[in-house]
Amino acid sequence: MNIKVSPSLLAADFARLGQELKEIEAAGADMLHLDVMDGVFVPNISFGMPVIASLRKVSSLYFDVHIMITDPIRYIDDLAKAGADGVTFHLEAAEDVGAVIDRIHDRGMKAGLTLRPGTPVERLLPYLPRLELALVMTVEPGFGGQSFLPEMMDKVSAIRQSAEALGKGELLLQVDGGVDRSTAGACGAAGANCLVAGSAIFGKADYRGEIAAIRAAAQGG
Ligand code: DX5
Ligand code: ZN
Repeated sequence: MNIKVSPSLLAADFARLGQELKEIEAAGADMLHLDVMDGVFVPNISFGMPVIASLRKVSSLYFDVHIMITDPIRYIDDLAKAGADGVTFHLEAAEDVGAVIDRIHDRGMKAGLTLRPGTPVERLLPYLPRLELALVMTVEPGFGGQSFLPEMMDKVSAIRQSAEALGKGELLLQVDGGVDRSTAGACGAAGANCLVAGSAIFGKADYRGEIAAIRAAAQGG
């Protein structure tokens, strides 16, 4: 399986964001994961539209924006204007999940849906036909650097099975949280084809080597 790696900017050095972006692009990142947090849906605040818009000017990487925001429909227009290519939101945060998916598509972006570790995967599956991406969280959303929850691999397998039944081989099936070269194999084995990694890449000396090791582990796993 062709594995995409989406480094999470949350673990980058925010004093040198532009430079970090250039380095990660040169190191073979397939996309860039941008975590937007509102301090309400999750107990942390990260960055928002002005940062995304500024980064958009210096990069042509696919911007894979993961929003941890209550009532996400309020921000879809702004995310499109800021230059997001895809937006992934939490089903727990939205009153009308289908309406958010429609709004993302209307604004010309790819739609992704995700869920907290404690939320059953059955709540996500009905939306699969309308999604370009499904994200399985392998940590409680809000912070980088937490430990991978291996029991979430059942959700990955369930989504992979449903996607296959729907003939949706092109679905991006993403895993986010605690992914590194030692946990990527389990993700690949369960059927994931897109891995987010923050602390396992940024802050390390060799971005290219870390990305390649995660990709190789997922392919071998
Ligand atoms: C957590 C974020 C993740 C985070 C991952 O809420 O969604 O994208 O940056 O960080 P690591 O890879 O360090 O677990
Ligand atoms: Zn994320």
